[in-house]
Amino acid sequence: MSPVSGRPRGEVRIVTRRMREYPEDSWTLSRALDDGGYEASRKVVTQMTADDTIELVKSSGLRGRGGAGFPTGMKWSFVPKDVFPKYVVINHDEGEPGTFKDRELAELDPHALIEGITIACWANQANKAFIYCRGEFALGSRRMDRAIREAYEKGFLGDGIYGSKFDLDIILHRGAGAYICGEESALLDSLEGFRGQPRLRPPYPAVKGLYAQPTVVNNTETLMALPAIIDKGADWYRKWGTEKSPGTKVFSVSGHVKEPGNYEAPLAMPLSEVLELAGGMRDGSEFKAVIPGGASAPLLTDLSVPMDFESLKDAGTMLGSGAIVFMDQTTCMVRNALVTTEFFEHESCGKCTPCREGTWWGVKVLERIEHGEGRPEDMDLLLDICDGIDGRAFCPLGDAASWALRSNVKLFRDEFEAHVSEGRCIFDGEHKQLVGARARGDEMEGGS
Ligand SMILES: Cc1cc2nc3c(=O)[nH]c(=O)nc-3n(C[C@H](O)[C@H](O)[C@H](O)COP(=O)(O)O)c2cc1C
Ligand code: SF4
Repeated sequence: MSPVSGRPRGEVRIVTRRMREYPEDSWTLSRALDDGGYEASRKVVTQMTADDTIELVKSSGLRGRGGAGFPTGMKWSFVPKDVFPKYVVINHDEGEPGTFKDRELAELDPHALIEGITIACWANQANKAFIYCRGEFALGSRRMDRAIREAYEKGFLGDGIYGSKFDLDIILHRGAGAYICGEESALLDSLEGFRGQPRLRPPYPAVKGLYAQPTVVNNTETLMALPAIIDKGADWYRKWGTEKSPGTKVFSVSGHVKEPGNYEAPLAMPLSEVLELAGGMRDGSEFKAVIPGGASAPLLTDLSVPMDFESLKDAGTMLGSGAIVFMDQTTCMVRNALVTTEFFEHESCGKCTPCREGTWWGVKVLERIEHGEGRPEDMDLLLDICDGIDGRAFCPLGDAASWALRSNVKLFRDEFEAHVSEGRCIFDGEHKQLVGARARGDEMEGGS
């Protein structure tokens, strides 16, 4: 895999190969066809059984790239064989702060996504797929829309694809921009036209999902890894990563780095090397902390941790969506905790009390610390709020809010205490005005 000009050598490009090798027209049908596109989907539909396809994906060890890391082939094997219709739903909502991989993947290679969807639909014998696309993704949805139309014209979609007896339709649906609609069961409610709120599980979507029918929900990046796995085989895919976390991952790298962007690297690459892919810390920046897997993931201060599902779990955090935010010495961790908790408070769907009330109280306490009105007992109060949410919320959004907040307080308690003892933000007396409810003109009501 030759590096495209200016892109670092440590990358291994599987999902991003076409878009990096042909940046001028990677999203067009002609480029996809010249580059071997649609051969893998043609192969499964015309030469492989659905069960063989599932077995191949199982043995590749591919795990979901949407956050939970569930093994893809295993998820597919839970779908009942004798119930019809079945659906495949593509989670293209991508609302996790720091994450911007799926947007770029679909903008720059929509035909690879259609091919991955076709493979998933064949494996699960689903004749209809829905792409749930984040509403704000204007360019990506235009390109996907066009690519879907072109695929119909070529006979890659529609009735009897590739001359077989298998029919396949793809429907592109744009969401309205709520983070919770990325959670798979809330996504299904939203797709059905209801307010997006998580469903009680079981039953899991594989058994009773969209319109109460068996449904596979997979992330965009997960599906886009499929054509290469079908084409080159499970052993080839396992050349990268570890036994339990094989293959590559697209990391969205942002923060105080020289070259923010999406970088595809083998799973288990140490954080320090991923940082190098992004050119290292900016001039004058010293590494302070990193969010390794999107805003939901607890912070790390150790750059030697390998970026795979198990190593990050052992380090007390998670790979999540693979969004890595590097922070330098200028970052106020109280502000960091505040803006993160504000996000979760804003996005809390309100269905359960621990998350709805807990995130609200978290913001309130963090605001007073950041604005110089913190109390000595506030750090313990914040940890208590986290304990009140963690494990008690209806869905992982609430848990995630508590993990992020707790790690800020635990790792940087001295900074929180300094805000309280000095009665001000110790980093910047001015920019604190830019964040928090006060900056929005809201009133802080009552006391704790
Ligand atoms: C609050 C919340 C938001 C989520 N947002 C997304 C998202 O934007 N995209 C995504 O693929 N998965 C997201 N997930 C994970 C999905 O629920 C689900 O695990 C995933 O789509 C399954 O696909 P995968 O197995 O291919 O990863 C989110 C989960 C939670 C709890
Ligand atoms: S944890 Fe938060 S987002 Fe999830 S159901 Fe409860 S209120 Fe809604």
